[in-house]
Amino acid sequence: MDVKKIKESADYISGRVNNIEPTIGLILGSGLGVLADEIENPIAISYKDIPHFPESTVAGHKGQLVAGELEGQTVVAMQGRFHYYEGYTLEQVTFPVRVMKQLGIEQLFVTNAAGGINESFEPGNLMLITDHINNLGDNPLIGPNDEELGPRFPDMSTAYDKTLIDHAKQSAERLNLDVKQGVYVANSGPVYETGAEVRMLRVLGGDAVGMSTVPEVIVARHMGIRVLGISCISNMAAGILDQPLSHDEVIETTEKVRGDFLSFVKEIIRTLP
Ligand code: HPA
Repeated sequence: MDVKKIKESADYISGRVNNIEPTIGLILGSGLGVLADEIENPIAISYKDIPHFPESTVAGHKGQLVAGELEGQTVVAMQGRFHYYEGYTLEQVTFPVRVMKQLGIEQLFVTNAAGGINESFEPGNLMLITDHINNLGDNPLIGPNDEELGPRFPDMSTAYDKTLIDHAKQSAERLNLDVKQGVYVANSGPVYETGAEVRMLRVLGGDAVGMSTVPEVIVARHMGIRVLGISCISNMAAGILDQPLSHDEVIETTEKVRGDFLSFVKEIIRTLP
């Protein structure tokens, strides 16, 4: 991980956003990018203009950074993220998190669309991520470690910040939102799981499965950023219902819960201590 590249990206972004200093980073998953449209006095920067940034390739992912004010906080949002299945290394996938840290963020809110493994969930539920299982068979921290960024052997016992989870739960209560909690499993994709794989993941303790988030959270924790994770259960994972899975269904559901998702995240940010 090249600290010089991180600084060059961050310097470029700082110049474009008139040196505003974000304290919260947001990574917006499939169909959830609309949150960036709520940012006031937004400055949007296309990923392709940022030095050293990879370029996003998936439909439904916009591929830009949006900085500005959200509910009284200065934020920087990724409208679209980089996925392992696109062929990027995990170092590339997580590079923007390094850059956001360099810009000054102390908290990272990661969001995603995920398949529900827990049979008490329903498509359209929002789930606070309490913990994760890295089932990628890879790790973004493999390779030489730069102590300037973080420790060689980072602790992952508090990957998802308990105080932020409690705060989010209280926010959900105020809005009368029935928000679930659970363990997120990251698979590489791009295939959805087989029914047998979903049964295996359930035995292993997974509640939801997706193709993102875990690498970004590992890198955020490596650098001491506090993390809040929110999954939108866009579908029941394979084999639970008697129907095939499709990306269209994922996007359709995230669009349906858009209102709940927006009010939830905004309430969390508005009432941050
Ligand atoms: N599996 C993996 N990733 C996903 C799913 C799923 O069922 N739904 C949305 N992203």
